[in-house]
Amino acid sequence: MAKAELTGIRACVFDAYGTLFDFNNAAARCKDDLDGKWERFSALWRTKQMEYTWLRSLMGDYHVDFWEVTGAGLDFALGSFGFDDPALRERLMNLYLELETFPEVKAMLMRLKDAGMKTAILSNGSPRMLEAAARNAGIDHLLDALLSVEQVGVYKPHPSVYQLTVDWLGSPAATICYQSSNAWDAYCSAAFGYQVVWINRYRQRPEGLPGAIRKEIFTLADLPALVGA
Ligand code: LAC
Repeated sequence: MAKAELTGIRACVFDAYGTLFDFNNAAARCKDDLDGKWERFSALWRTKQMEYTWLRSLMGDYHVDFWEVTGAGLDFALGSFGFDDPALRERLMNLYLELETFPEVKAMLMRLKDAGMKTAILSNGSPRMLEAAARNAGIDHLLDALLSVEQVGVYKPHPSVYQLTVDWLGSPAATICYQSSNAWDAYCSAAFGYQVVWINRYRQRPEGLPGAIRKEIFTLADLPALVGA
């Protein structure tokens, strides 16, 4: 076993969308229907999807699951770009159930499992979305748990979401190594108490938020060495 840079880690927990699964993949696979604007379209879809999770969480009694929020964000993007095409909408939504993983993901998970590390996803995604995505990507057998915010009915970064991993593992937050490519999620989860590795795929700037990130890397391929796997 290699020497770990992060110590006392008992499980590696991953954000799903943007970290393991490439959410841009849905729009990219419909690029002909999106008139060459798929990158801007995908960015707006993602922005509205995230905003709606934060806003609904603040509103209190208005939680709906991530499938509905993803659809609402998509409708906003379709309307903004002037696409009125129910078949395209259906195709984009269904593609969300079979997003590709980033290229290094499967080998990285295999290496963690070979080293005896526990692994899980913690995501805004509904159980059905997470199960479908993990199964279609062929990584379901490499994950010990798929933890969804649906268990608590509020979205990240509410602390009760991050607490789900502590309850699952039966071990304090500081024994969990949490990976996210979403900068806000990396910072907020670090404030909760995880040892956080920010997978800065999108070369985002540091956020002005509480939370001390332990490590910044640019691909998950570099994770196993950090935890001694
Ligand atoms: C998730 C979003 C934040 O998977 O990417 O929870």
